[in-house]
Amino acid sequence: MINYQRVVKEPLKEDWQALAMHINDEVFVKALDRVIDIVGENLDTFTEKFPSAGGVDGVYQPTNNADTFVYSDWTSSFWTGMVWLAYELTGEERFKNVGLIHSKSFRERYETNDILDHHDIGFLYSLSCVAAYKVTGDEFSKETALLAAQKLAGRYREKAGIIQRGGPIDDIEHPSTGEFIIDCCMNLPLLYWASHMTGEKKYYDMAYAHIQNAANFMVRDNGATHQNFKKDIHSGEPIRGWTSQGDGDDRGCWSRGQAWAIYGMPISYTYTGDASLLEITKRVANYFLNRLQSDYCANWDFLYQSDEGQRDSSAVAIAACGLLELAKQLPLLDPDRKTYEAAAKTLIAKLIEHYMYGEDEGSNGVLKAGVYAYKTNLCVNEPVIWGDYYFMEALVRLTRSWRMYW
Ligand code: GLY
Repeated sequence: MINYQRVVKEPLKEDWQALAMHINDEVFVKALDRVIDIVGENLDTFTEKFPSAGGVDGVYQPTNNADTFVYSDWTSSFWTGMVWLAYELTGEERFKNVGLIHSKSFRERYETNDILDHHDIGFLYSLSCVAAYKVTGDEFSKETALLAAQKLAGRYREKAGIIQRGGPIDDIEHPSTGEFIIDCCMNLPLLYWASHMTGEKKYYDMAYAHIQNAANFMVRDNGATHQNFKKDIHSGEPIRGWTSQGDGDDRGCWSRGQAWAIYGMPISYTYTGDASLLEITKRVANYFLNRLQSDYCANWDFLYQSDEGQRDSSAVAIAACGLLELAKQLPLLDPDRKTYEAAAKTLIAKLIEHYMYGEDEGSNGVLKAGVYAYKTNLCVNEPVIWGDYYFMEALVRLTRSWRMYW
């Protein structure tokens, strides 16, 4: 059970519906056309290779599917997801061909177990093989995604009710034992999908237990989230929450982590029908929306409320997708429904206005001002591939009805 009543629901500071009234939807169509062009321009370079997690001086570097270059170990599928979106939008075979080449690459990665002993298997296989299956019905991709789901399920800690983030699962003395992170909200769809495809309820039960633990322990009473949390795997008792990529375990809040929750929790609602997930998402969303900068972008941690050099545009792109899903799932008469939809439109319109690379700026990316990890100076003020993916997904959501890959 999710205890959402303990979490403050801050009143929103902006009148989001008034802001969105002035947006002409044509801007979304134009921006999406430009993103499709970028995917097409990058297709040859990134057929056998994948873009690195973040840019170097604005340019993604070619990496392997599993690669340690700028910690690209969990990010290769975001490009594949963009390729599948481009195929759905254009029907052009060149995109489908590359998507299916990537399914083979992800199968090989599974078979060689290449940097897969972590929870991000969900990101990796939802946007590659699940997407390939949903879009084309390709059985090989489906089989590969089911194998990946089985592997992800192997990371489940029964007593704690969580998917463990990293560390070898058979070593219970490992320091990572019992740790889970907010990003994992987005890895759960692979389990729900596998449950639906196989009829095996255990996958659903694991994902549902995990999201309840994330909601109850990672969402703080003020509506902010912890990036990490640890539970005792023997007793299931909570131990503590903290941050790695944000600043200050209890003072601040890592904005991208907040965005992972804003999107991950409504997705779990679509599979479970547990309305408390929508209620808690509203509280997390309000915390996020109330701490944006004057250009409606987020800084990497909400502790920092002014410096322009600290933006993370990717957090905003992820949150916008979450707000759109939240709005879609809320009951028609829920007064917040229109507000979240308007907020998402505003965020994306502002990203288009301030943060899309121009054609003459020498980048092969879409969005400026992403950050991987500010404190360690990893890909700061660069395009990051997940930011580009979620921005494209948000544009798709804003311009047509779309069946999620998640
Ligand atoms: N999932 C890791 C990150 O958001 O940086």
